[in-house]
Amino acid sequence: MAVEEVYLNGKYLPAAEASISIFDRGFIFGDGVYEVIPVYGGRLFRLHQHLDRLRYSLAEIRLPISLSDIEITQIFERLLNNRSDDASVYLQITRGSAPRNHAFPEQMTPTILAYAQDLVYPDEAYREAGVRAVSFPDQRWERCDIKSVSLLANVLARQFAHEHGAAEAVLFRDGKLTEGAASTLFVVHDGQLLTTASGHSILPGITRELVLELACDHGLRCQQTNISEQQVKRADELWLSSSTKEILPIVQLDGKAVGSGKPGPHYHQIIKLYDEFKDKFRKGEVS
Ligand code: PDD
Repeated sequence: MAVEEVYLNGKYLPAAEASISIFDRGFIFGDGVYEVIPVYGGRLFRLHQHLDRLRYSLAEIRLPISLSDIEITQIFERLLNNRSDDASVYLQITRGSAPRNHAFPEQMTPTILAYAQDLVYPDEAYREAGVRAVSFPDQRWERCDIKSVSLLANVLARQFAHEHGAAEAVLFRDGKLTEGAASTLFVVHDGQLLTTASGHSILPGITRELVLELACDHGLRCQQTNISEQQVKRADELWLSSSTKEILPIVQLDGKAVGSGKPGPHYHQIIKLYDEFKDKFRKGEVS
């Protein structure tokens, strides 16, 4: 369903009536940050982790806002309007409108946009059969830990994947795996779960954190480390994760089968744990 209502700079408006200045620095420079938060059974999933990451992104780009976490949460709740189904919330904050000049404006009023929309789940067939991916050079900047709206390199990578019949681009920088165009990547190798170590080269995925928590709690050996292109190519299993795709198995990379070419046993285990966690979350048993 199309987005009907949005929050924009203190007002709740029909989407069609919301507008921003053509001089908005988000539009002109991509000068802003964002978050995407899944909502299960009407409850905002991992909200504190998303808000902490938002605060981190804002601090790193030196963009102060006056809204507190409680006020942001109230905006989300009003947009969700007591809906009890699954949804997602999008929040974007830019450095506002000012005459075009790269340096920060003296006077700054951020542009704050938020809206809720239906959570479009990946087709169930993707979980069962897996998805295809292609390798692509990581051409992004060196601060991928900031959830910036400057996503051109991600867009080009994902479009390359799309044009090659793949769901995701697996990004490599200097022969090492970073992440997907819009997802975290996990490699299962010799019974161990590997994912790229946190740092400036990847986004600290909120789903990544939960996958690691669940996997480690259930006896899978996990390591956050440097992963070479060869290790990815020899993986027994490869998964992607994100707030909207949850966890999906990648069964083909650059036209070659990953492991057995089917979702592997560790994927089956993690997706079961993830679904159980979501069910408990919906019932308010975990946060
Ligand atoms: N993107 N890495 C990148 C580059 C991403 O864009 C995303 C998610 C992730 C996974 O992060 P999380 O688990 O917190 O969603 C990793 C969102 C969903 C998007 O841009 O729509």
